[in-house]
Amino acid sequence: MSDHEAQLVAAACEARDCSYSPYSGFRVGAALRCADDRLITGANVENASLGLSLCAERAAVARAIAEGRREFTAIAICADGVRPTPPCGACRQVLLEFAPRAEVLIVGERGLAGEVIRTTVDALVPHGFTDYRDREGPGGRPEA
Ligand code: THU
Repeated sequence: MSDHEAQLVAAACEARDCSYSPYSGFRVGAALRCADDRLITGANVENASLGLSLCAERAAVARAIAEGRREFTAIAICADGVRPTPPCGACRQVLLEFAPRAEVLIVGERGLAGEVIRTTVDALVPHGFTDYRDREGPGGRPEA
C-alpha cells in the first residue's frame, strides 16, 4: 500500500469519529481523494426518522461537490466492526456518477492492521445505470 493510500485510509478512520449514529451505533467514515489531491471526508448522519439517515460516502461526495470538486481518484471507507463493510447500493450508484474508475479501499475498525478490501467503483457496480441521455428510445435521445 502506498503512503497516499495509507493517508486516505487514515483520513476515513478519523472521519468515523465524527459519525452521528445514535440509532444504529454503527459509525462509518469515508475519505475521497480529489483529482487535485485534496482529501474530503464524510461521516454517516442518522435521524430519528430512520429512513433519512445519510451514509458517510454520500456525505463525502456532497461535501466535495459543494467545494467544487467533481473528480475523484480514490475513496477509503472505514466502519465499525472487525471486517471491512463494503458500501451500500445507493452509495455505489452515487460514486458511479462521479468516479467510475476510482480506487476503493475498505477497512474495518482496525484500519490497515486488519483486513483490507481493495477494488474499484466499476467493479462494485457491474452493469451499472449511467447517463441515459445519449441512448435511443423513450427517455433517451429525442427523435429528430
Ligand atoms: N452506512 C454508511 O454510512 N454507508 C454505507 O454504505 C452503508 C450504511 C450507515 C448508514 C447508517 O447510519 C448505518 O450505517 C447503519 O446502516
